Amino acid sequence: MSQKIEIFDTTLRDGEQVPGCQLSTDEKIIVARELEALGVDVIEAGFPISSPGDFLSVIEISKAVKDPVVCALTRAKKDDIDVAAEALRYAKRGRIHTGIGSSDVHIKHKFNSTREKILEQGVWAVEYAKSKGVQVEFFAEDSGRADLAFLAQMVEAVIAAGADVVNIPDTTGYCLPHLYGKRIAYLYENVKNIHKATISVHCHNDLGLATANTISGLMNGARQAEVTINGIGERAGNTSLEEVAMIVQVHKDLNLHTNIKSEKLYGISTLISDLMRMPVQPNKAIVGANAFAHSSGIHQDGFLKNAENYEIINPSDVGVPSSSIVLTARSGRAALKHRLELLGYQPSKTDLDVLYDNFLVVADEKKNVNDEDLVALVANTPILV
Ligand code: KIV
Ligand code: ZN
Repeated sequence: MSQKIEIFDTTLRDGEQVPGCQLSTDEKIIVARELEALGVDVIEAGFPISSPGDFLSVIEISKAVKDPVVCALTRAKKDDIDVAAEALRYAKRGRIHTGIGSSDVHIKHKFNSTREKILEQGVWAVEYAKSKGVQVEFFAEDSGRADLAFLAQMVEAVIAAGADVVNIPDTTGYCLPHLYGKRIAYLYENVKNIHKATISVHCHNDLGLATANTISGLMNGARQAEVTINGIGERAGNTSLEEVAMIVQVHKDLNLHTNIKSEKLYGISTLISDLMRMPVQPNKAIVGANAFAHSSGIHQDGFLKNAENYEIINPSDVGVPSSSIVLTARSGRAALKHRLELLGYQPSKTDLDVLYDNFLVVADEKKNVNDEDLVALVANTPILV
């Protein structure tokens, strides 16, 4: 039976940490409503103690949405947890996401502390957050570089303290997919009562492996994925929501599913890109401008014979109206003929040969040949006029 993956969206927290991407409370409410319509299970709405604006945004998002759990980030500190609980007071279902570093690098160089003290503080934070009457998620920051036995000890201790969800972040995007997956498997094999909590994966993209690591974590038992729209986030970004949702949808063999309404993906990607003034790279999987564009002759010919030759996703499944055939100097006769037919021309084989030679001259000059260029091309080709 297919198992549900909870989608935890952190566009408004980890995503919004990107310099220049800050949103106003009103803009965040618009995004939160769209995330709700998209079908995410959890919205991480902000880090309330970090600024009055973030505090207010968590309050207003809590009022604005009803289905998703609203989550607020804290450090493992009393003031952070008090302020987060206050900001979540209107949430139908609220969650405090608290945690602390788990790698020796963080323990030594960030906290100047010891494993024992860090463990104690983490357990205390979970117990204290739990006393606020909300769900509690614990993050073991920099889990990707933590000593595995210590990480297991930490996960076991916070579950015993009442954590509902335990997040295993690859904070620095360091892990390789098979090794990140092995970390999750190790926790399932070695942590007592691990099934009392949901294990969550939160991966960064410093080596371009965030999505691969997330999928590896899910294949090894994690049941929540922490993601952002367009993969925005600190440095090279977070795991992108649209990639995880579509991998799970395309690969039925994984036996996993999400509640994401995939046909809304392109719309929300555009919304985030516009509001955050953060362009989506053209070759971005799923939502990039070229994700369903075919430009080389061999591909265009195959695509025109049957879209399945070169597409594993129907563009309308992710809200892109249609695939496109881009005419360039690499295009073949089949694509040129197709576009001419769409414009109402019916060139004979001989006409097409002549047109194609002229087309290549224009394409070498112009890079992309558009419909206006084609109309001019036909007008200037005596054989057809
Ligand atoms: O990357 C990370 O470790 C985080 C935590 C705060 C969850 O964003
Ligand atoms: Zn993060």
